[in-house]
Amino acid sequence: MRKKFIAGNWKMHKLRSETRSFFDELRDQISDASVFGRVDVAFGVPATLFDEALKARPQGVKILAQNCHFEPQGAFTGELSTAMLQDAKVHGSIIGHSERRQYYAETSQAVGKKWDALVKQGLLPCVCVGETRPERDSGRTVDVIRQQIDDSLSQVAKTSLTSEFIIAYEPVWAIGTGLTATPQMAQEVHQFIRAHLSQKVGHEIADRCRILYGGSMNAANAKELLSMPDIDGGLVGGASLKAVDFSKIILAASV
Ligand code: PGA
Repeated sequence: MRKKFIAGNWKMHKLRSETRSFFDELRDQISDASVFGRVDVAFGVPATLFDEALKARPQGVKILAQNCHFEPQGAFTGELSTAMLQDAKVHGSIIGHSERRQYYAETSQAVGKKWDALVKQGLLPCVCVGETRPERDSGRTVDVIRQQIDDSLSQVAKTSLTSEFIIAYEPVWAIGTGLTATPQMAQEVHQFIRAHLSQKVGHEIADRCRILYGGSMNAANAKELLSMPDIDGGLVGGASLKAVDFSKIILAASV
């Protein structure tokens, strides 16, 4: 049985004072602290909030970066290495988010290098994949996902694959649009991802891997999505910004 993993993705939102009040409100909403033991909860936050989020989070909640560089150091203005993330005490990083692929031309190969660098630093990679609307409409969803996974895996050392990683399936057309994949549509892709991972890296690792759904997950649709056999959690953007909304998703995953 895989433990559910609910991750908020704050993107470019919130200041430090808002981070403090968010976590105070989250504690008000979820007074039973054992919930944070039954479900893994994480937040991908801007680097300016690492410290504050680490201080203010309920015990057990993980704090993630939203990106990192794969080189250990160098002339890469504006970037953060995995050693810097570890030094800042965060637990891992979201990588390959479709907004990074779209606006910063991030390739699946680069995502694979980041995956490897994170694992080698003892950090948790949360690897995003997903198809665009035209790709889905032309029946290429599974091919696109397979390619993204294979191109990334080609950059990950075999020894790195034994360390935990998370995959987030995020159909691009569902992100921030209010459109959600139906539980059946999402399950189909999640099942494919697990089967494909099983072929590439072995049954045991594939079976252990938590595959999150992302794309307009909210308090109203979380329960149904999370009831699907291969949906092990969610990567939540908009609905993670308000503690009232996000707590409902955490509670839906904690049953
Ligand atoms: P959304 O974003 O929940 O606002 O659709 C999800 C994401 O981009 O990770």
